[in-house]
Amino acid sequence: MVGQLFTPTFSKEDYSVGIRTDGESHGVVMTKPHVVSLLLDLVGYDPKEALDQCALLEPSCGKGAFVVAAARRLIESARARNVDLETLGLAVFATDIDEAHIEETKANVYEALLSLEVPEPTVSLLVESWIKSADFLLHDFDGRTYDFVVGNPPYIRIEQLSRALLSEYRCRYESMSDRADLYVPFIERSLELLKPHGRLTFICADRWTTNRYGAKLRQLVTARYALKSYVQLDHNAAFETEVSAYPSIFTIGNDQQEEVRVFQLGDATPDRARELSNSIRQGRNGDQMATVYEEWFQNDEPWIMIGPNFLEALRSLESRFGLIEEHGDTRIRIGIATGADKIYIVDRDAEIEGSRLVTLLQRNDIQKGRLHAPEKCVINTSVDSGATIALDEYPRLKAYFESNKALIRKRHVATKDPERWFRTIDRLHRDLVGEPKLIIPDIAGSTEVFLETGKSYPHHNLYFITSKSWDLEVLGGLLSSQVALFFVWSYAIKMRGGYLRFQAQYLRKIRLPEPDSLPEKLKTEIAKAFCDRDFISLDRLALQAYGIETLPDFPFKDTRY
Ligand SMILES: C[S@@+](CC[C@H](N)C(=O)[O-])C[C@H]1O[C@@H](n2cnc3c(N)ncnc32)[C@H](O)[C@@H]1O
Repeated sequence: MVGQLFTPTFSKEDYSVGIRTDGESHGVVMTKPHVVSLLLDLVGYDPKEALDQCALLEPSCGKGAFVVAAARRLIESARARNVDLETLGLAVFATDIDEAHIEETKANVYEALLSLEVPEPTVSLLVESWIKSADFLLHDFDGRTYDFVVGNPPYIRIEQLSRALLSEYRCRYESMSDRADLYVPFIERSLELLKPHGRLTFICADRWTTNRYGAKLRQLVTARYALKSYVQLDHNAAFETEVSAYPSIFTIGNDQQEEVRVFQLGDATPDRARELSNSIRQGRNGDQMATVYEEWFQNDEPWIMIGPNFLEALRSLESRFGLIEEHGDTRIRIGIATGADKIYIVDRDAEIEGSRLVTLLQRNDIQKGRLHAPEKCVINTSVDSGATIALDEYPRLKAYFESNKALIRKRHVATKDPERWFRTIDRLHRDLVGEPKLIIPDIAGSTEVFLETGKSYPHHNLYFITSKSWDLEVLGGLLSSQVALFFVWSYAIKMRGGYLRFQAQYLRKIRLPEPDSLPEKLKTEIAKAFCDRDFISLDRLALQAYGIETLPDFPFKDTRY
């Protein structure tokens, strides 16, 4: 935690973060009971132990799935030891920002304890002491720390947070950098609240383990804590509602890093979850289900959990070849975003000065593995230096923008910069229109690379690569090969069905041989195979270019043909 510690107050509006299609507020996704049970097993909250001597924290309790299950285990443990139940007031602590959720949790725990025949006055005492409405990230814990932290933190993107709240969180939490989602500072704060040898088990989106916004949190975990186990799940395996995130369950301890066991839990059915719990209980004997990493990643390295064999092949390539953008002038960029395509993408003969129109290459100009001549243009609102045009110099464009002013001004970019209300989100680099470029669509399941010969500018869901040191047909051939796909597969979030997706942050991690180090004959063959879209030859030629005999057989869906 960084920054000063006072607890400012925020209004209801600051916490109003929109409504999901199921009518719930954002960040609210409840965990299925058998998954809750698995998490309690993973964190080690075992009723055979003296749980009355321990403290458990659930930072965002929702309707109480974890608190109810933990309470049952606690009562079982306490009864087995003849512990007076009234003394358990500090054994559990749960918070949630949402008053209605707190009331539901209280009601659910109340009912669960009564059903266990705990006397009513004790039930009331425990419920009131255990469950409190609070912003977990701002709550003053007054020195209390915990042996167990368990839960399912909220997923809330920063755009959904009020400015005041975001800046307060940023000031307090070093992990909340870049575009980090709210679950990231939740993990940081929860780790801070662990006792020595305490454990945290969360079910949570897996993005932070490999992406840029998770770097500070990974740094924190590898420097001060120890990952114990990591469970990878299929999409939607664990939650009561549909979510777009990929969940994982990880256990982090406040102690020394040792080996890490990584499990695949697939669709997390009750049977599979039980099998995993048993495996964990058996310790090393249950390792059939686990991939064991003797050493874990260091500093803020992405946690590439592809298994030791794949990792060895990847590390060998990483040690021998430079990153794609290290070759001087090779650059990966994303096409232009306008903020209102309906207005900014027009026909070539639109009533607008021709000097402001640039041919636009769009996703639908790519069909059946070919680039077709684009038919639309984008309005270029910047001069070559990058400055925004003087609108008065273009009377027809001015009239067009004025007639669409209401919509144009609504765009985020226009509200941020009212003086230049008509500019596009991104600047169009006029000088790149005439340069040949490799085009790569940013959509799931597409790993295709196309050569554009310098006649248009790409739209924002297309990446494009320019380079002076590479012959683009050779570069295109290497990027279309299985070796490039192996890099992307290794680093990228795995998509359902084994589909790969080229995204800029993973494209930038592809490594390449030096252009000059490749024999001319090989380059000619690669260029020809690229033009012929002969992927079988490209895979073979790329192995030669990288000087390797074979790649490990990585499971991905090949969509190139
Ligand atoms: C993903 S739900 C999880 C609920 C519960 N742990 C479960 O798994 O069933 C996240 C919860 O976080 C709560 N929440 C959101 N922001 C919070 C904050 N700043 N402090 C505490 N709780 C918060 C939401 O109200 C919601 O109940």
